[in-house]
Amino acid sequence: MTALEAVAERSAAGFDEALARDVAAGLTSRPKQLPAKYLYDALGSQLFEAICELPWYPITRGERALLTRERDAILARLDDPATLIELGGGNGEKLAILAGGLAERDRAATVHLIDISETALARARHTVAGHPSVAVREHRATYAEGLRMAVAELDPDRSAMVLFLGSNIGNLARDEADRFLAEIAAALRTGDSLLLGTDLVKPEADLVLAYDDPLGVTAAFNRNLLVRLNRELDADFDLAQFAHRVVWNGRESRMESHLVSQAEQTVCIPAAGCCVRFAEGESIWTESSYKYRPGAVVELAACAGFACRAQWIEPDAEFALSLFDVP
Ligand code: AVI
Repeated sequence: MTALEAVAERSAAGFDEALARDVAAGLTSRPKQLPAKYLYDALGSQLFEAICELPWYPITRGERALLTRERDAILARLDDPATLIELGGGNGEKLAILAGGLAERDRAATVHLIDISETALARARHTVAGHPSVAVREHRATYAEGLRMAVAELDPDRSAMVLFLGSNIGNLARDEADRFLAEIAAALRTGDSLLLGTDLVKPEADLVLAYDDPLGVTAAFNRNLLVRLNRELDADFDLAQFAHRVVWNGRESRMESHLVSQAEQTVCIPAAGCCVRFAEGESIWTESSYKYRPGAVVELAACAGFACRAQWIEPDAEFALSLFDVP
């Protein structure tokens, strides 16, 4: 039986087939890698929320400050009633800053929440529920699928704003980011807009602290991926044998997160139909976090067909919020 046949057989027994396939493909490729989206099971989503509160992780703090400061300029771009589509909004806290501003002005809104994580959707729903003038639609899906679902529900006479915040775009490789922004532009209509949050290039020491914090929360977030594979795919990863490592790749302008094998070892993942050998020091690449320069953000969006209306930068966190129009 091939590994893929084994995955199909086991998925009938209740395993997540897509996870099993991606794990089989990722751990038999070179370098070994796993898609970052699998970091967000229930515990992973909670750990990510904790990361956002760490003093060494500037993204949330910087974006929160910009959204609060520029809230009126952003809200002025919305129709009445307003339509917002948030891609991967986490706990909904950032959306709540905008929803609060709409509520203060008695403006009604519909927000479409798109997230792969049920936990994140539930948290966002709960946060936005404090604003009764805001109707919530939820789409538990990948960004691309969720965007299609949300766009299919849009009122043709009212413009919409897509929120792609938190530097979530940073977890896409450059070609994926190009393609995804082009997909957003193609899905939207003239008069719609995009609010994009991007973390900016900063000194290497600050980046390393942001992704390898002294409390070990980011390490737990990364290593939890192995806990998930043990639980969901019956894998036998020994957590003590994998260490969290991050490296700044200046040429590619990205932080890379890895789980490094501390010994030569073999790990079996029955539901993925494979056993995988690791050399000592060999890593599983689990995530990339690309960092941008302000001008590169504008260029990236322009290539996808967006026109830049405004760009705001928070100097302490070195974080940018850019507002684009669909011309
Ligand atoms: C969600 N994403 C933008 C975070 C980032 O910074 O790449 C995920 C994260 N990984 C480690 N820390 C935070």
